[in-house]
This record gives sequence, structure tokens and C-alpha cells, in this order.
Amino acid sequence: YPDDWARILEEGNRHPPMTLRINCRRTTVPAYLDLLQENGIAARAVSEFGIKLEQPVPVGRLPAFDAGRVSVQDRAAQYAAPLLDVADGMRVLDACSAPGGKAAHLLELAAVDLLALDHDAERLDMVARNLDRLGLKATLRAADAAADTWWDGEPFDRILADAPCSASGVVRRNPDIKWLRRQADLEGFAVQQARILDRLWRCLARGGKLLYGTCSVFAEENQQQIANFLRRHPDAKPRFPVGIDGQLLPSDQQDGFYYALLHKS
Ligand SMILES: C[S@@+](CC[C@H](N)C(=O)[O-])C[C@H]1O[C@@H](n2cnc3c(N)ncnc32)[C@H](O)[C@@H]1O
Repeated sequence: YPDDWARILEEGNRHPPMTLRINCRRTTVPAYLDLLQENGIAARAVSEFGIKLEQPVPVGRLPAFDAGRVSVQDRAAQYAAPLLDVADGMRVLDACSAPGGKAAHLLELAAVDLLALDHDAERLDMVARNLDRLGLKATLRAADAAADTWWDGEPFDRILADAPCSASGVVRRNPDIKWLRRQADLEGFAVQQARILDRLWRCLARGGKLLYGTCSVFAEENQQQIANFLRRHPDAKPRFPVGIDGQLLPSDQQDGFYYALLHKS
């Protein structure tokens, strides 16, 4: 991004915005905005499900948070579930699900049969707690998405691959990344992402959709990763429905994120 590199670095040093996703099973954006106002929290609607706070507040100050009316989720992350256009009864896989933000959004949008995987059992507990708070249900399984162990052979209608990545689009939320991440790490992430993508593609039904996402701004994990995937899988038709060729850059509105929607013909 020759024109944007300075802005990307500046955003990485700023405080991130705090954005909420309403649980559309329990409230609406106007109703929750009223509740925020009653509680002295200034905010505005930013999308069908999203509310941006003027100033971040501790989660404990969010009204009806424990009652599952709302979750904290960056606006960039809120694109994922609607892009998969889920419908009641669909078999859906969230392959890298912890802490469960996007899994919860999928379940809020439709009564899907969701399998939520994560290779880290402790992080999977966070998914369980989040779904519980929101009044949602899924099957949770600790497994390596790239392995052969967890699949029962029934194809999925929709798959979300929110892959492990450098997190270079969210360094302002995890400032240690700026010190700890090394350029050489990118190759490892790219290999892992390709393994996960290739494995998941076999589990997708014909006519199904797989959404690949990363919170990275690096081409090795995003555009190049998907270009290589398309060379290996001629039955995949891509769409890049948000940003510049799928890439959202970090700003005062949202985190840096990448999405590629892959349709299986
Ligand atoms: C970017 S986070 C997912 C965020 C989540 N989708 C959400 O919206 O809350 C990536 C997750 O992938 C998990 N992960 C990493 N490698 C994995 C693998 N091989 N199989 C399954 N999960 C994996 C990590 O433990 C981490 O929880």
C-alpha cells in the first residue's frame, strides 16, 4: 500500500475504536442506542448490527451485557457472518472459532447447525462462555482444523476459516506484536493457513461457500495466499466483497482485516 503505509503505522499507535454488535435475537440497534443513552454512554449506529461508542468503556458498564443483548466486536469482524448468508438448518463449520465472536454472530443470524472447532481447548472454553451468555448453542470440539480427525464426512454448506495469522491489522489491540513478531514468522503462518484452507475445502459441499479471513495486512497471508489457493483448486470461484480486493486497512472506524469468499462450483 504505497500510499497508505504511513497511515497504517499511525493507526497502529492509536487507541482502537470500541464497537458493539447487538444480539439481533434479543434487541435492535435503536433499542440498544436508547439504553446506552439512558446510561450516559454516547454512541452511534454504524451498520445493521454495529454501534460505535464515542469513548471506550469497561465491558462491565455496558447495559444488559450479562443478559446477552450485546457483544464487543470490531466492525471489520462484523462483516464475516453476513457475508456467509446463512439460513436456518444449514450445516456450518467455524474452523478457528475461539473466542467465538463470529460463531455467535452466525448463530444470531440463523438457526444453523454449527460446529465450532479450535485447536486450543482452553480458548474453546471462551467460546462456550460467550455462547452461553448470548443464549446460543453449538457443538464445540478441540481439534486441529488441518487434521483428518474431526470430520464425520458430511459436507458443510458454509465454512468460516478465520485463520491464525500475524495479526498485523490489529497491532494497536496487541502492542506486543510490534516487538515480538519477526518477518520470518510470516512464512510459517502462510504454510499453516494453506494447510487449513486445503483441508477445509474438501469438507465444503458443492455450491457451498467458504469465507477465508485474517486480521492481517500482509499479502503473503491474504492476496498471495488466495491466488495460490485458486491455482490449486480450479473449482473455487472467488469474490472480494469488502475493501480493496478484500483488504480493509486499519482506521478510526475498524481494524485491518482481509476477506475472500470462495464459492465451490
Ligand atoms: C483469529 S482467531 C479466531 C477468532 C474467532 N473466529 C472470533 O471471531 O472470535 C484464530 C483462532 O484459530 C485457532 N487456531 C490456530 N491454529 C488452528 C488450527 N490448526 N486448527 C484450529 N484452530 C486453530 C487459535 O487458537 C485461535 O483461537
